[in-house]
Amino acid sequence: MKKNLTHNSIILGKTIKWWLEESDFLGPFEKYIASRIVFNNFIKHKDRVMDLGCANGFLLYSLLQFHPSRFIPFGVDINHKRITWARRLLPEFSLNLFCQNIFSCEWYHNHFDVVIAPWDRTYGFPSIIKKYKDRYPLTKILFYLYDDDYTMFEKMENQIKEFFPKSLKLGEIQVEKLVKLVCIL
Ligand SMILES: C[S@@+](CC[C@H](N)C(=O)[O-])C[C@H]1O[C@@H](n2cnc3c(N)ncnc32)[C@H](O)[C@@H]1O
Repeated sequence: MKKNLTHNSIILGKTIKWWLEESDFLGPFEKYIASRIVFNNFIKHKDRVMDLGCANGFLLYSLLQFHPSRFIPFGVDINHKRITWARRLLPEFSLNLFCQNIFSCEWYHNHFDVVIAPWDRTYGFPSIIKKYKDRYPLTKILFYLYDDDYTMFEKMENQIKEFFPKSLKLGEIQVEKLVKLVCIL
């Protein structure tokens, strides 16, 4: 069921702007939510969903709030502080949130129905994810980009399978220039 997400929340007695704490996203709260909700179109009930580079877990958290049913979230991040935040945000799934280097491949030996990851060449995620896809061909891979990386789209147009709406209405809020879903492998 949908919950009301507010700009601030109290976690462990502290009022925080949780979508900014230990996240690389810079922008208004509504944009963060709206730009990620599109992923839910690809997630089915009870799917095991891995967010690679999950940071503070807010991506998974947002999707769980708006998903029509339920899925099982998993996350990996190399940054211990970020995983600590993610475990606070998703306490019931804290055992699914791992502080790991994705290249250490521990996550790699498990099957996930959906893998979400940044299409970011500096991190080099696409290479290992393509190997994962060879291992588990039925897994859906959802790559995303932040909108300020927009110029990268032109460079890799032949690899883009699906473009997400340039804008989206979330309740009363019209959000423009969203983070895009780059491709679904
Ligand atoms: C662009 S942020 C993604 C944040 C979040 N998924 C979101 O959409 O807001 C990328 C994250 O990947 C993590 N990261 C970078 N290299 C990594 C690696 N080799 N293994 C695991 N996590 C890594 C960083 O610590 C960072 O939190």
